[in-house]
Amino acid sequence: MIEEATHTKHAAGDRPPGPAGAFLIGSLSAFRDDPMAFLENNAKTYGDIAFFRFMGLPVYQVNNPDDVRKVLVDPEGIFTKGDILEGFRPLVGTGILLSEGEAHKKKRRMMAPAFHHGRIRAYGDTMVEEALRLRETWHDGEAVDMAEEMNRLTLAIAARTLFGTDVSAREGAAVSAALKAFARWYHQSTHPLGRLLQLFPTEATVAFRQGKRDLSAVVNRMIRARRKGGDAGDILSMLVFAKDAEGDRPRPDSDSAAFSDAEVHDEAITLLVAGHETTGAALAWAFHLLSEHPEAADRLAREVREAIGDRLPTVADLPRLGYVEGVFAEALRFYPAALTLPRQATRDVKLGGYTVPKGSIVLAAAYCTHRDARFFPEPLAFRPERWQEVPRKDRPKMSYFPFGGGARTCIGEAFAWMEGTLVLATLASQFRARSATGHRVEAESLFTVRPKGGLPMVLEARALP
Ligand code: HEM
Repeated sequence: MIEEATHTKHAAGDRPPGPAGAFLIGSLSAFRDDPMAFLENNAKTYGDIAFFRFMGLPVYQVNNPDDVRKVLVDPEGIFTKGDILEGFRPLVGTGILLSEGEAHKKKRRMMAPAFHHGRIRAYGDTMVEEALRLRETWHDGEAVDMAEEMNRLTLAIAARTLFGTDVSAREGAAVSAALKAFARWYHQSTHPLGRLLQLFPTEATVAFRQGKRDLSAVVNRMIRARRKGGDAGDILSMLVFAKDAEGDRPRPDSDSAAFSDAEVHDEAITLLVAGHETTGAALAWAFHLLSEHPEAADRLAREVREAIGDRLPTVADLPRLGYVEGVFAEALRFYPAALTLPRQATRDVKLGGYTVPKGSIVLAAAYCTHRDARFFPEPLAFRPERWQEVPRKDRPKMSYFPFGGGARTCIGEAFAWMEGTLVLATLASQFRARSATGHRVEAESLFTVRPKGGLPMVLEARALP
């Protein structure tokens, strides 16, 4: 919790205070070893803005919504994703996540219709169907790894809604293994000797290369099926059958197509990964928080019962599932998938009263803002009802930004809110999940924030009245 932060203003022109760091590597190891403790300690000790270095590179951590807004909404176009996110490149390639400028705008324009409100609403039934399919495999007293369960579920939902296809158990396992391998490899790449290590066939490198091949095979199978099956109106169809600016014929295989085959492949991987990994983690965290707060779990079940009785939820029920949505919002507040959103300044810029020089890295620290008592009274209390007392739209801008902000804001945000709420309403209304005895839950941030070593839980069917 950030209550004790000093939040003082410092003399303009100075460098903000911050941890001294070690010789040559600066604060890189401290950040890698325990990013959550490192960021939180900076916010507590130094207030709204802290300065440190990663291998000589100047880094500014900003924890104040006004500064976060300047960085993410970026009305003057000063910030780019920059070099610090290049570690994601081997996974997502030319996909939208790391695109910049015109290329980014073009992709965003193209994908927008698939994420339009009306379109997303049509995905609701699939989300509930898949959640029900999972629920039917659950039994009273059964031990599960909730992190795995939620990942499998969100992968199935993403594949059906975005790509119009089912995922076999073998493919699901391949995707999961690939992402685990990527997380290890990514962590290795942030080591002070990361670039050097990548030149050698370390265990992490070999596992990731194999994982990437397997992931590509899954995505290529989906692309082939879509080409063969024709335009189904889903997002994969939009990518595969994209027309170029003249726009009169599909040219997926020609040089002048809106997307080359390689681009379709990278975009599909980006969407498949971004579209399930984050939502899966958030749902797993929601189950963990509910297991620690049984009264909240009961209140969730009561709300669902009162809103819809014993039938399955639909999109039309969402306005009456405010507490359920609050549970998902709290999960994302405590454990935002991205602890910080990194950017690089393309010119000198003022932040928090300091001049941040061109080339500096700026970390918009969602993890800290979300735990700041100025914006969330009793920040460490799990209170889903806080989102009903003060809805998201009425809160200070960028005090809560699990989906980022500005032009790079998550394109799947509306999708994720709907999915999180409908899945929780379907599953947590019928089953409690308790932490397995003896297991200590710990968060680990490799490329998203996940429960370290999974989330072993025991299911308990709720007695229906
Ligand atoms: C709880 C779930 C989710 C969370 C917490 C989340 C978080 C984020 C964040 C923080 C960003 C911005 C990264 C940045 O600015 O550096 C982002 C971007 C993105 N997300 Fe999500 N996301 C979620 C679900 C989804 C879903 C369901 C989809 C697709 C169906 C999706 C697709 C994307 C894409 C394509 C981008 C890149 C957008 C761009 O660069 O223009 N995300 N997400």
